[in-house]
Amino acid sequence: MSVGQAIRAEFPIFEHTVYANSCSQGALSNRVRAAAEEWLEGWDENGAEWDYWVERNEAARSAFAALVHADPDDVAVTTSVSQGVSALVSALDLSGERNRIVISEYEFPTVGQIAHAQELRGAEVVQVTSDAGGRIPLERFAEAIDERTALVCCTAVSFRSGHRNDVAAIAELGHARGAVVLADSYQAVGALELDVRTLGADVVTGGTVKYLLGSAGLGFMWVRRSLGSTLLPTQTGWFADEDIFAMSIADYSPHASARRFDSGTPPVPSLYPGVAGMELIAEARVPEIEAHVRGLVDRLLAGLDELGATVATARGEGDYGPLVCVVATDPNRLVEALAGERIVTSTRDANLRISLHLYNVEDDVDRILAALRKHSQLLA
Ligand SMILES: Cc1ncc(COP(=O)(O)O)c(C=O)c1O
Repeated sequence: MSVGQAIRAEFPIFEHTVYANSCSQGALSNRVRAAAEEWLEGWDENGAEWDYWVERNEAARSAFAALVHADPDDVAVTTSVSQGVSALVSALDLSGERNRIVISEYEFPTVGQIAHAQELRGAEVVQVTSDAGGRIPLERFAEAIDERTALVCCTAVSFRSGHRNDVAAIAELGHARGAVVLADSYQAVGALELDVRTLGADVVTGGTVKYLLGSAGLGFMWVRRSLGSTLLPTQTGWFADEDIFAMSIADYSPHASARRFDSGTPPVPSLYPGVAGMELIAEARVPEIEAHVRGLVDRLLAGLDELGATVATARGEGDYGPLVCVVATDPNRLVEALAGERIVTSTRDANLRISLHLYNVEDDVDRILAALRKHSQLLA
């Protein structure tokens, strides 16, 4: 199904509301609702459908892999970014000379907090800050990364400002110093084309709640094979074992593939809607979604300039994606005022967040701009 007007009928919310909050959660489609109901119906009719659940878990792995152009064997199915990243860092030796974790100012809290938790294991955390224009200059990463760096975390798109890190360039810096590079891509996957063969990062993670149109409780972590096969996560679970159904308690024998970063019982209720959401995205095709959203975001930015609004998102060619942040005098009141106009947005810091996706159309952008003009006293 193609993007824009063609797909809107799948998403009932657009009958009455302009939904511009996919950076928090994607809108609910009929197809994802039906998939969630299928899980309940199967439970009702058949009880525990273990074989089917394991098959759905593998379907999710394959769908994630296809989205990032990876082999399913290099993809872990996780319950969250937190679970995957925790498993990853649990496999890093942080007790010696190479004990530093570099994080960008734009990391999601879970990445920053997991990094700081490693201080208990001997790690040192180095934070790379942004400049006044909302960018994180490459030189700041270059200064922070050295031969003591074990891990560099550079979120692909910031949930906070909409800024896109240049993951490939940062990965090059990290690799030159022998560090592992992690790109938390939750705010990118499904909206921007991601290809692990060229992205540069060694580990790429995300989940289904936002631009993948599914529910909470399902995520993924791709790990470069040459790295993954050398790592032994100490945060683990029985679904990470080389043979789940052997049910052995005699040893730790992690799976040879990235399944070693899986954990316990798969997030069964989230698998159904997650796979359905990813199917919708795959059918619409990410490059087409990206081009469509770019047109809408550029229309929005032009309108914001006309309004004299202060845009917090950096505006260089590769600096922004589907999320635009606008500085507000009182962001919560502005979100409420827009909700009163039946427009759904959200806030972070002093900013209003407006995020656009495959189902948005030019009329949505124009309605958002008209509402912002009406409430322009709340714009900084
Ligand atoms: C960039 C980013 N990373 C991670 C998350 C979520 O992490 P988790 O799956 O651990 O809840 C979000 C949003 O919820 C996010 O925006």
